[in-house]
Amino acid sequence: MPIQNDMRYNAIKITIPQAESILSELFNIKGKITELPGEIDFNFRVKVEDSEGYILKISRPNENQDYLDFQQKLLLHLEHNTNGFTTPQIRKDIKGNVISEMVDPQGNQRKVRLLTWVSGRVWSSVNPQLDDLRFSLGEQCGMLTQALLGFDHEEAHRNLVWDVAQSLWTKDHLHLFSSEEKDIITAFLNPFEAFQNTYQKLRKAVIHNDANDNNIVVSEDLLHPKVKTLIDFGDSVYSQIINDVAVACSYAIMHHNDPLEASLALVKGYHSQFPLEEVELAHLYTAIAMRLVISVTKSAINKPKEPNNPYLLISEKPAWEVLKKWKNISADFAHYSFRYACGYTAHPQEIPFNNWALKHNFFHSNLFPTVNKNEIHPLDLSVSSTWMGHQEDFNNLELFQFKIDQLQKQFPNSILAGGYLEPRPIYTSPEYDKIGNYGRESRTIHLGIDYCLPDQTPVHALFDGEVVIAVNDAGDKEYGGLVILKHSTADFSFYTLYGHLTVASATRHKVGDIINKGDQIAVLANYPENGNWVPHLHFQIMLSILDYKNDFPGVAYYKQINIWKSLCPDPNLLFKSKGLQKVKPISNEKILQYRKQHLGKSLSLQYHTPIKMVRGAGPYLMDEHGTKYLDTVNNVAHVGHEHYQVVRAGQQQMALINTNSRYLHENINDLAKELIETLPPQLSVLHFVNSGSEANELALRMAKAATDEIDFIASEVGYHGNTNMCVDVSSYKFDGKGGKGAPEHTHIFPLPDAFRGKFRGIDSGEKYADEVQKLIEKIHKRGRSIAALIVEPIISCGGQIELPEGFLAKAYQLVRSAGGICISDEVQTGCGRMGKTFWGFQLHNVVPDIVTIGKPLGNGHPIAAVACTREIADKFANGMEYFNTFGGNPVSCAIATEVLRTVKREKLQENALNVGEFLKSELILLAKEFPIIGDVRGQGLFIGVELVGANKNPLAAQTEYLINRMKDHGILMSSDGPDHNVLKIKPPMVFSEAHAKDLIYYLRKILNEDFMTSF
Ligand SMILES: Cc1ncc(COP(=O)(O)O)c(C=O)c1O
Repeated sequence: MPIQNDMRYNAIKITIPQAESILSELFNIKGKITELPGEIDFNFRVKVEDSEGYILKISRPNENQDYLDFQQKLLLHLEHNTNGFTTPQIRKDIKGNVISEMVDPQGNQRKVRLLTWVSGRVWSSVNPQLDDLRFSLGEQCGMLTQALLGFDHEEAHRNLVWDVAQSLWTKDHLHLFSSEEKDIITAFLNPFEAFQNTYQKLRKAVIHNDANDNNIVVSEDLLHPKVKTLIDFGDSVYSQIINDVAVACSYAIMHHNDPLEASLALVKGYHSQFPLEEVELAHLYTAIAMRLVISVTKSAINKPKEPNNPYLLISEKPAWEVLKKWKNISADFAHYSFRYACGYTAHPQEIPFNNWALKHNFFHSNLFPTVNKNEIHPLDLSVSSTWMGHQEDFNNLELFQFKIDQLQKQFPNSILAGGYLEPRPIYTSPEYDKIGNYGRESRTIHLGIDYCLPDQTPVHALFDGEVVIAVNDAGDKEYGGLVILKHSTADFSFYTLYGHLTVASATRHKVGDIINKGDQIAVLANYPENGNWVPHLHFQIMLSILDYKNDFPGVAYYKQINIWKSLCPDPNLLFKSKGLQKVKPISNEKILQYRKQHLGKSLSLQYHTPIKMVRGAGPYLMDEHGTKYLDTVNNVAHVGHEHYQVVRAGQQQMALINTNSRYLHENINDLAKELIETLPPQLSVLHFVNSGSEANELALRMAKAATDEIDFIASEVGYHGNTNMCVDVSSYKFDGKGGKGAPEHTHIFPLPDAFRGKFRGIDSGEKYADEVQKLIEKIHKRGRSIAALIVEPIISCGGQIELPEGFLAKAYQLVRSAGGICISDEVQTGCGRMGKTFWGFQLHNVVPDIVTIGKPLGNGHPIAAVACTREIADKFANGMEYFNTFGGNPVSCAIATEVLRTVKREKLQENALNVGEFLKSELILLAKEFPIIGDVRGQGLFIGVELVGANKNPLAAQTEYLINRMKDHGILMSSDGPDHNVLKIKPPMVFSEAHAKDLIYYLRKILNEDFMTSF
């Protein structure tokens, strides 16, 4: 049977040469023809020289004339009512017909139409498809519906399997599916059938009804693509307008982890051009599903008939994927989300509830009569709360309870409470995470109020209610004993939730039990019974309980905050308590404004919309909403952001004394010992300072003092700090924006870049060293000699440039022969980051005379160091005291000592080696897949990825794009190099293989995007 049908399909197929002769005979047009997909018509693209070209549509044999007439009239209507909507124009044949006729070689009557081509890309070829694009799709669909108002045709009222309104036909084909598939389909069919009454009354019009991947034309702009128009009116029909939205959504939400989120921009765009009614939005969730049900049913029916028609199968798999995900989304939650997208209150009862609550006054003493307090002292458990402190501290429940008790003692007449819509750092188990459309997302937003009260405190009912849930929600769930009550007012009902109760007191209730105002509901539990936190009541109001039967979320995703806020109103609407009133945090715009007015303009900010970071943990940073970012940039947070032992070392020492190094203290010696243990024996003297710049400034001063010379040799695009002398040896600065070129006493050798530099390849080390020799000779010619060579072992600002083999040893030898000193700037590379070695210079088997150490030493605290030989130190100590107010103070030294000990204790140098090697090998694989990656280099967790075009031309715009798109997926990256085309990867050293895998996964995703592949 299938083969027979396949033969039938091939028999009616029109070939390209046939299409060419049809075009020439009927329209007298010659052009280059290519085949396009089509479900009914055979479609061809016609390219001609002097215009955008055409689409040639040849019908199947004996196509219904009325059907084609309908489409042509519709197009003619649009030509006169465009309303901003671009439409293809009809081209008449040489006889003046809008529909031509011909007979195919088999003797069949075929109808032919020619329309102007609308240039652009089809939707399916656009990557990525982001909210802006889906919004513009919604806009175009809405505009088209608007333009079609007033148009009608008999054929618009035909039977059409693709019409959502007629989709109950699918019921007869349920036998084609497995039982799992059947369950999914009936989950939508049943409500669709049940809601027919209201559905039938929705607004109807002629709608496009087929905004599928191949019918949407998108602009060629790769950075900000917009939908230009919709084509193919073959499925247009007179139907409920909401079905048009549903059809567009059903395709546009495919291939997304969170299809609901993906649909919202489209709905919003549609509503902006064609306002949708509240009652229509109530049907959208099911209408979207029914379009997908039609799709999978059509595929199931047609598959055996025309196995070689790929168009029939093209959306079957993704349609099933969406249907499965769609079924797991609450229909009510989707409804509220659509409402919010269209500017209505997310929950229809939000305003009635607020008005009702305004008219009533409740007291906390009604909720907790035995406590009998009405005052509230706000409890700040937010991500940015300094009272919460370190994660290790708030995870220690005894310590946390102690802090609560102390606070309670301070405010004996108040109940400690708060938390509504608070973004919190405490929900760290994986059940609070999901992978959304843009990477990992965590639930952080608390939806109720937490009252911190002793266990066994009785909780009483504020109003009459009926028990709808009374369960033991312990185990891996959140609440311990949980009770949810339903309350009814004259106009609506709502729910109240009581969590963290003793299991016995919660479960003595049965569903349906009536609880009267003032009755005791239950008593509070202690941990671990209460879901493992300090005793407290979680009190929450809900206007619906969605599909929940035994549970209800108390914490939500930040991205959905507006929906949840409407669904779960502020419980303080009942109490109107001052202590529970939200203090509005200072907005980021205000912070930015102040910064612009009062901080120096030359301070830059990362990202177009700067992020406010409020907390760090390991390799992650967290913004004020609790959104986590994986940090691949920050080699300052060397042993991980806010490493507990490091934080404690600083806190503990700060509590005792912090003073300058003129008093004796063992901390400075301890730190010196830790550092000396890692350095070659020659480098035995240390000076402690406060920044990398200060370290290099001191190193340069020492070199001057030791040699009596003032000429320095440094690398092109090198950076060594922000002081006068450091900038004078930093080509990155004086050769960059605002710079005035090299000063008289600075001599720059070319960036030793074996990939794209003056000399290339593995044997270029010697040649670059010769350049250093040339500079020495130049200095000598001026009658002077050299003070020092300063260079990093991997030139970071230069674009993670690894010094070519042999360069450093030869350069050191040349400099020393000329009487100069060799300074290794290890501000970026030091303290184990190289993996194979603790210091960068050790990779080159050399021993510098001076080593400068900065960023990683204090894990974020300002401490840096200069290590040098005894000889240089003694020459520097010429009688002038070196005093540094903060350098080497006991607090900074305690911190730095703990950092170095942590590197050893946690084997972070080994981790840098192992994870670094893994990451590098994965990046090299990625480079094979994506030619844009020209080079992968670096050592340990200090890696560079250079993005170039076919001729090694640097691709700065693509690099910036990649960094911004990675940020959208919760991964922080940065770029550098003279051409801003090198990704610098230098994460905290606790970066694991799993983090590296995440990084690679999203790099691959973004490298596939249009802007990255079209250079
Ligand atoms: C190689 C190198 N040296 C010195 C410095 C200056 O260090 P700081 O910013 O701590 O003054 C930097 C800073 O980025 C650096 O990258």
